[in-house]
Amino acid sequence: MASAARSVRLDVNGFFSHMIGAHGLDGHDLDIIVPRLSAALESLDARRQGGELPFYDLPYDQAGIAACKALAAQLRADFDTLVVLGIGGSALGTKAVLEGAGARAAGGMRVVVADNIDPASFSQMLGELDLSRTAFNVISKSGGTAETLAQFLIVREKLLAHASIGPQRWGRHIVATTDPDKGPLRALADSEGFHSLPVPPGVGGRFSVLSAVGLLPLAAAGVDIDALCAGARHADTLCSLADPRANPAALHAGLLLLALKQRGCGIHVLMTYSDGLLRLAEWYAQLWAESLGKARALDGSVVETGQTPVRALGATDQHSQVQLYVEGPRDKVVTFVRVEEHEHELTIPKAYADKEEIAYLGGLRLGQLLNMEQRATELALAESGRLTSVVTIDRCDAGSIGYLFHLFEVQTLVMGALLNIDALDQPGVEAGKRLTYGMAGRNGYAAEAARVSAMLARKRDDLVLG
Ligand code: PA5
Repeated sequence: MASAARSVRLDVNGFFSHMIGAHGLDGHDLDIIVPRLSAALESLDARRQGGELPFYDLPYDQAGIAACKALAAQLRADFDTLVVLGIGGSALGTKAVLEGAGARAAGGMRVVVADNIDPASFSQMLGELDLSRTAFNVISKSGGTAETLAQFLIVREKLLAHASIGPQRWGRHIVATTDPDKGPLRALADSEGFHSLPVPPGVGGRFSVLSAVGLLPLAAAGVDIDALCAGARHADTLCSLADPRANPAALHAGLLLLALKQRGCGIHVLMTYSDGLLRLAEWYAQLWAESLGKARALDGSVVETGQTPVRALGATDQHSQVQLYVEGPRDKVVTFVRVEEHEHELTIPKAYADKEEIAYLGGLRLGQLLNMEQRATELALAESGRLTSVVTIDRCDAGSIGYLFHLFEVQTLVMGALLNIDALDQPGVEAGKRLTYGMAGRNGYAAEAARVSAMLARKRDDLVLG
């Protein structure tokens, strides 16, 4: 197991009154939540044993990992660049690892993640590619997402029109990652004979990064996917502990629930003190938002619950957002992600010995200063009675990120259980997809198209200015 996998720590002192005074929680609050956490862990374990939560198995799936490595090796032999076409859970995890730990990858392909359909950036990205040396990994669990299929159709046309590729060879440039049995992309992969890898049934987009969804492009990029999965497996040993006080995913979820319900913290800020980990915060934001933002409880009653995730970057956002966090409404809980040993460390040169207000910086390492900034923000929030936690990783590497993926996924499921909602569905996202199908004229979606027209007809001109 990669040693970095052992070097992740969750510090929740900042939730409690001994650190932040009267606004903090105390032991009694924890005593009340612990039985609920134990019940949530028990029910998750039963669902896991019953095969309902197959994302837990992904880091143990040696055959799946080997299949990704084998196809990645083939892609690396034939191409220089791999472009991921996908959105949401089909893209964010890959981006998080590429930016968080990808810099270390030696000898890998250039991997580009195209996760939007802005014509300006998509056409610019396509224009910069040497198509003859580029493969495209079309990733869609459902196989029917409009954005991803639109990207695919544009790419297909370009490959078909390319002089050295054309109708004979274009299919060799495509790899599909999708449901093993169903959906439009699966049907296409089978009929066109694309290389393809499965997204295991029951693994939803935002829980799929350790399936072929993330592992294929990451292996192609040269990321150590064994270390990534080892990190997740190590997290699993801790996040499976039945004692909620020892289980980081459960304890954090319980405290975040108390922050939401007892302290009115409807916003959860994940503030990374590392540029490379900002994408991890984006992945987390999707996970927390899409899993927990639900109208109805499991019994069908209306709850309209959730906690709004916000991503922030230290130290940059200290000069942008932190004033609000320290003095504004008490509606936020902040989790810092801190890296102990920064790669490519720089030492600030000693100079201007006679000017103390500049000279004090000389000899400090830049990463050391960044971490001092994190402690400063933590203390400023504590002194203002704001709730915080700190996740510390020794190094920003694949093992640590794998650990964080699993920790946050289980934390999300525990929070879902506490909120009594289904953390695995996304009816709001599906509703938006159907409305887009309607506007784009897809068969069977005329009612959705009519609802959009009716919305536009309801708009009053006097409320549209300019
Ligand atoms: O987490 C999810 O399920 C979603 O964010 C999906 O990943 C996203 O909507 C893309 O869906 P698909 O992979 O089916 O194209």
